[in-house]
Amino acid sequence: MTQVLTFLGLESSCDDTAAAVVRHRPGALPEILSSVVIAQTDLHAAFGGVVPEIAARAHAEKLDHCTEAALAQAGLSLQALDGIAVTAGPGLIGGVLSGVMLAKGLCAATGLPLIGVNHLAGHALTPRLTEMLAFPYLMLLVSGGHCQFLIATGPEDFTRLGGTIDDAPGEAFDKTAKLLGLPQPGGPAVEREATQGDAKRFAFPRPLLNQPGCDMSFSGLKTALLRARDAFIAEKGGITVQDRRDLCAGFQAAVADVLTEKTRRAVEIYAEFGPHKPALAVAGGVAANQAIRTRLTALCAARGLHFSAPPLPLCTDNAAMIAWAGIERFRAGHRDDFTLAARPRWPLDQNAAPMIGSGKKGAKA
Ligand code: KG4
Ligand code: ZN
Repeated sequence: MTQVLTFLGLESSCDDTAAAVVRHRPGALPEILSSVVIAQTDLHAAFGGVVPEIAARAHAEKLDHCTEAALAQAGLSLQALDGIAVTAGPGLIGGVLSGVMLAKGLCAATGLPLIGVNHLAGHALTPRLTEMLAFPYLMLLVSGGHCQFLIATGPEDFTRLGGTIDDAPGEAFDKTAKLLGLPQPGGPAVEREATQGDAKRFAFPRPLLNQPGCDMSFSGLKTALLRARDAFIAEKGGITVQDRRDLCAGFQAAVADVLTEKTRRAVEIYAEFGPHKPALAVAGGVAANQAIRTRLTALCAARGLHFSAPPLPLCTDNAAMIAWAGIERFRAGHRDDFTLAARPRWPLDQNAAPMIGSGKKGAKA
């Protein structure tokens, strides 16, 4: 497998339409030749969540422009590619279908190989795109739609150690922001407020911390915050700026505590896999949170793990990770044909128990 590979990647499983071109020379780090992401944030803003039908229409409208832009930025034509990788699930089915149909059309027209990629594998393989992290590594996916611990032992081999049983942490940040009148996306807004707040003033719960394992729950935290806010309003007629900062700080501290303690447990299980160069990698928008990052960095330092945090544009949804996962699958001998199906659910680890929650961003694995 010494072949230089150049792949187009397509992503349309949630609310970002994306196309990217990635090239890999064996022995060298992969190169992202282009990465175009068209976010749909404004289209869904008024609805307080992603509206599947609006998302699907926007993907169908934007995907081909996005693809043209990615090829133009890479300075390549379709003929210069070695394959096309597309997110085939899990996600909102209308969007996934748009991507799979376009990829099939392009492959039918060019004769290029088609590779269906699991969106979560795209996130989970990102540390190899950025620094060729050696298997096995521990992965924490934390975004508005995902929250799970995975051990990646190969491009197609993942063991799921646990995850949220209801909301994803980003979803909890977004709901908290909404309850406190802060703008969306909520994570950065809540983090900003929290920097000037007293995290000890409110004792928010640490859900599932007293139970063994790596499963997590974040929906109760939002309810606790709602109660605290309403108690203030009933008592004083409203909340002050400082109350809001303290509520944000207390909420963020609870999320950070839960994620850190569950990561500590995941690290213990991961140690049993006998990693040569132990590493914890993070992905997802919540990984941008400095308070959470600081805690995870400290945990890694104490346990002798390398901490791998891709730059934010590669942590959040993008198509470079899909192109890269396609290259990894292709090198592993995987090929798809025109029977490739768009899947709303597609667990990365087929042996793991299914997740209970599905959350605002639609069905997940
Ligand atoms: O990975 P992402 O862009 O999209 C998916 O969910 O797929 O993640 C977005 C989520 C949002 O819920 C946003 O509020 C959260 O990540 N987020 C943050 C921060 N920046 C983004 N959460 C906490 N702290 C942040 N600094
Ligand atoms: Zn994602």
